This record gives sequence, structure tokens and C-alpha cells, in this order.
Amino acid sequence: MYKSNLTVESIGNALRSSLLNGLIREDDTLVMFHDLSFLQERIHHLSSVFPSHTLHAVAMKANPLKRILEFIRLLGAGAEVASLAELKMALKAGYPAKKIVFDSPVKTWQELEFALTTGVHINIDSLAELERVAALKQRIVSGSTIGIRINPQVGVGTIAESSVAGEYSKFGVPVTTKRKELGDAFLTYPWLTGVHLHVGSQGCSMELLLSGIGVLYSFVSEMNEKRTATGHEPISIFDIGGGLPVSYMGDQIPVSMEDYAHAIRNEFPELFTIHYSLLTEFGRWVHVNAGWTVSRVEYVKRDSGINTAMIHAGADLFLRECLNPKSWQHEYSVFDKTGNLKYGKDRNPYNLAGPLCFSGDILARNVVLPMIEEGDYLVIHDTGGYTLSMWSRYNSRQTPRIIGYHGNEFEILKERESFEELAPFWG
Ligand SMILES: Cc1ncc(COP(=O)(O)O)c(C=O)c1O
Repeated sequence: MYKSNLTVESIGNALRSSLLNGLIREDDTLVMFHDLSFLQERIHHLSSVFPSHTLHAVAMKANPLKRILEFIRLLGAGAEVASLAELKMALKAGYPAKKIVFDSPVKTWQELEFALTTGVHINIDSLAELERVAALKQRIVSGSTIGIRINPQVGVGTIAESSVAGEYSKFGVPVTTKRKELGDAFLTYPWLTGVHLHVGSQGCSMELLLSGIGVLYSFVSEMNEKRTATGHEPISIFDIGGGLPVSYMGDQIPVSMEDYAHAIRNEFPELFTIHYSLLTEFGRWVHVNAGWTVSRVEYVKRDSGINTAMIHAGADLFLRECLNPKSWQHEYSVFDKTGNLKYGKDRNPYNLAGPLCFSGDILARNVVLPMIEEGDYLVIHDTGGYTLSMWSRYNSRQTPRIIGYHGNEFEILKERESFEELAPFWG
């Protein structure tokens, strides 16, 4: 059975070793961990269930840590980047241009020029952007391949804020309402050889993701008939985006990547042949379950019916959890000062309150947990993606030390931010 989450035992082992070896110092009120063996398994698994010529451009927005970028590059992954800075970070981390996919809904002229000159794959987001690329291609000799993001308009998942394939979406060109314009574009520009879709991130069922692929697959089949009739090469780059959901709670049954890949192969067998260059852009599935975060509990406030554990992470690290708690939740475990797991249930549930100055800075409310005491460690499970990458500067908290481990071997992936590093942010 494929492992979907890290066990509390393996987290406890890593926590105890870190405490014993002085990796969690007095100042390290908050530390993030990444299990690199688990991450490696994820990349290997991804490569094993899709055709070998697939480029897995892992969504950098999920986890842009330099050491992690280098680590997954060495495992053969590519990078999906959503800004010029992410593009430059991918190049800096050693990704060849051919393994970088540039998506962003607001690419400037200069950014497009840089991307074309560098030779990365570009997914155009709008018809206006297409005209800019066409103009730039008149004067730039580029090795870039070019696709266009199409909104398949198949509907939204359970989380509206992270669904992008509804009737309306700010992303891409809608397949139904702009069908004629899309058709014209593919017949006007022979170099437009790719399509791209992304249905949403978390909250989208496998069926919804598959129906998005289906819409684009039919569109491409129709266009390719017309393109070949006019002597253009067929559309051959098919980017399915990311979006496979992961399980954050023990009672959520994770969607299997293997099932997803099998379903794509069964429903659209041509996509798995060499006639297509298949691209994927998974972020959450690759990273989230490989990481966990531990905060020292600084204080516990006990009130009638509710306890409040004051911890060192709130909306700075867990933006979505604090602002939209119904959709974003985690599992929590409590360890004592020496890293031993605590059991049982306290009489009162807990609010897990962050350090920021606003009342919504509560990571979770009414959580039933063992008795928490000052100096204990609270572990937040499944924090390997969309956490540090969404860091907020509010209240100028310092970013935590980040540790990677393979079994019993630990390495500092990034040091805790010092005051001297933080202060220049404000000028
Ligand atoms: C264009 C695009 N590709 C890929 C992803 C990654 O999605 P996920 O991390 O859910 O796989 C996102 C995230 O929203 C995205 O916007």
C-alpha cells in the first residue's frame, strides 16, 4: 500500500533525535521539517505511473526552498514557475531551460522577452498575451515551446478559492465562450503547439480533473484535424497542470496518483503515446505530506470550557487555515519537552493561537488534544507545501529554521532568519 502520510511514530523519532542533537535550540520556537526520503518516494512514484517521457514540472509555489529545488531536480523533476523570480530561482537551482514551465497570468513584455530568450516552455494565459508573444517572436530567435492555458469550464471543486475551472476564471482562455478565437489562434500561429489546463488545487475530485482533460483532449483532436489539413504540425504538448488532492486528516481517503494516471491512460490512451509530450505540474501532492512543523507551546490559557495554547505560528505560516478554517485543517500531535508523544484527552478542547496581532490568528479551534503544558511541543502534520511559500511579513516574525532528514541524517535546509536579515525588508 502506497504511503500517503508520515506516521506520528516517524515524526516522534525525528523530533527526539533533533532535540537530543541540539538541532532545536532555545531560539527555535518554531521549526519546519521535511522528510527527504518520503519526498524522494513521491517523485519516484510519479515517474513510475506516467510514461517515461513525461516532464513533471513540480509547482514551485508549493515549496521554493533552494535545497528542495536542487534535491528534486537531481531526481529528474522539472519546475513549474509562476513569476519571473521563480523562473530565475529555477535557473539558479540548476534546472535546464527545457525543464522549466513558465505560467503566470500577468507576464510583462520584459518577462516574456526574458523567457523567450532563455528558451523555457511558456504557457500563455490570454489572447492579449498571445499577441505580445507573436510580436516578440518577430525579432527574437527563441528555443521556447509555446502553449496556451485554456479554461475547460468544467466547474468548481469544494474549495471555491482554489478552483479555477468554473464558468468564469481569472485564468486562461475559456474554451466555450472563446472557442472561435482559440480556433483562429491555433490556425494562425503554427508555433502554438501546446495546451495547458489546471482545474484547481485541493478540493477537486479526480472526476473533475479528468473531465477537464477530456474537454481539452476533444478540443485538441478537433484542432489537429484542421492544423494538419493546413500543413501545420499538430498540437503535441499537453500540460495537465496539478491539483491532485492530498489527505490532511486521518479520515480523508487520499486520491491515488496511480489511479489518476491509470484513468488518464484508459480514457485518453493517445496522451500516453509518443505523439504527445505530456507535462504535469503537481505541487501539493509532491510536497505537503512530506513535511511537518513543530512549535514550542509558550503559554496555555485555561478558561471555562476552552483552553488556548499560545504557539509560534499563526496566519504568518498558515494563512489559509486561519482565514478559511472550514476548508483547511490539519492533524495535530502533542509531545512533551523531551519529545515523547502525549496521549489521552484533556477535559477541555484547545484553540491553537498564533503570535500575530489580530483575533483571527487562530490556527484551529476546539481541537480535542491531550493535556498541553508550557514547554511542550505541538506538531502540525502535513505542512510540506503552501506554508512557508505563503509566509506573511505581518508583525515581522522571523522565518523558522528548516531541517531536512533522511532516516537519522539531518541537514539544515535553511537557517532561522536573523533580525539582521529581516530588518532590511522594511527599507
Ligand atoms: C497553474 C498551476 N499549476 C499547478 C499548480 C499546483 O497545484 P497543486 O499544488 O494543487 O498540484 C497550481 C496551483 O494552484 C497552478 O496554479
